Amino acid sequence: MRRRLSLLAGVATLGLTLAACGGGADNTPSDSSNAKDATGKVGVFTWWADGSEKAGLDALVKVFGTDFPNVTFDNLAVAGGAGSQAKSVLAAQLKAGNPPDSFQAHAGAELQDYIDADQLEDLSSFYKDNDLTAQFPKDLVDRLTVDGKIYSVPSNIHRANVVWANVEVLKAANVDPTKPAADLDAWFADMDKIKATGKIPLAVAGSWTQVQLFENILLSSLGTDGYNGLWDGKTDWKGADVTKAITAYEKALTYTNTDRDSLSDWAPATQLVQDGAAAYNVMGDWAEAKFAQDGDKPGVDYVYFPTPGTAGTFDFLADSFTLPKGAPNPAGAKAWLTTIGSAEGQTAFNKVKGSIPANTTAKTDDFSEYQKSAIKDFGQDKIVSSLAHGAAVPVAWLNDLSTAVSKFGGDKNVDGLQTSAAEIAAKFAK
Ligand code: BGC
Repeated sequence: MRRRLSLLAGVATLGLTLAACGGGADNTPSDSSNAKDATGKVGVFTWWADGSEKAGLDALVKVFGTDFPNVTFDNLAVAGGAGSQAKSVLAAQLKAGNPPDSFQAHAGAELQDYIDADQLEDLSSFYKDNDLTAQFPKDLVDRLTVDGKIYSVPSNIHRANVVWANVEVLKAANVDPTKPAADLDAWFADMDKIKATGKIPLAVAGSWTQVQLFENILLSSLGTDGYNGLWDGKTDWKGADVTKAITAYEKALTYTNTDRDSLSDWAPATQLVQDGAAAYNVMGDWAEAKFAQDGDKPGVDYVYFPTPGTAGTFDFLADSFTLPKGAPNPAGAKAWLTTIGSAEGQTAFNKVKGSIPANTTAKTDDFSEYQKSAIKDFGQDKIVSSLAHGAAVPVAWLNDLSTAVSKFGGDKNVDGLQTSAAEIAAKFAK
């Protein structure tokens, strides 16, 4: 991981497009509380409200309870994958001057929003006190650093370009589960075979999962540089290659379950694959946690592979925890952040969450085969920033683009989506 991140030193497109400096002289935090003095209740806001995500949070809370027996964890989770409900609830609370003690945010552009709005405490001294800088890869720390200050503690690294597939469904359609399609055309050909057996080729759910599918098709169709260029202005949203990518997305939608908009979240779509009703689901590797929790066996019940056409690229996102300005219990928040950043906390959490630790000293010996492969891939792949999960673009850009992608699910107007996406990019690109 260290090696790979050092190779990334010049890659602004990680999405953590933050000015990296080695720490400034004016790092005096407005908060001087200390984790070791923490008592009382610490309110932590996430969207890990149920299923395997709640199990991950519970694993973390257990370590927290051992680390800080005098502090009570107050679970402020708001259900809705990818923060689809939580982020607007949080925005309202922050606006009303009613922040939680700590909240989950995505590393990258989304976190930058909170920093720009002056809603976060500088955690530079916290990093120093806990020797965190040495435990996280230098280039990740650099990318979380803005004007010499660092404002959050990453808990994990997830991958967004993974296909999860049902072995039996593939075999019944004469599709070899051990030989994933190399590109979108080959994948669509496999989906035709699956469709002929009466199964759903590609399971997807409501809005944000469609945005994640869209992101995967853009990445596959445009390639790594073309995809990165969508966010930094180097790729023309009005270009013919984007028309081709949106047309491929339109085709992908023809293979999906028609009730997609009524599936409330990612888990019911993944469940369709687990139940053998569908062949494939493109989902972040929190799905690995669900397969594991439900007792499904990799290689036997399900297989996973990078979305066809994206092998060698790791579509990155990271959850990161903050200390908001005006938090009721800043010492309690720092206690929480101490557990989040610790090797023990990261091992316990990530093992159950399907992700990989951001802390390079965390033990991963007993992680799943999938997670070991993700650690390896993260160490050698090109890294790009997830659109649907706050790494690539600010929340306002994502919200507008999500509306356009949802509309496209109904009208299938390629030109309409392309024009809207170009206008949105022009509005928000810096
Ligand atoms: C978060 C993951 C979470 C997923 C689904 C992502 O945005 O980063 O931690 O599991 O959404 O809710």
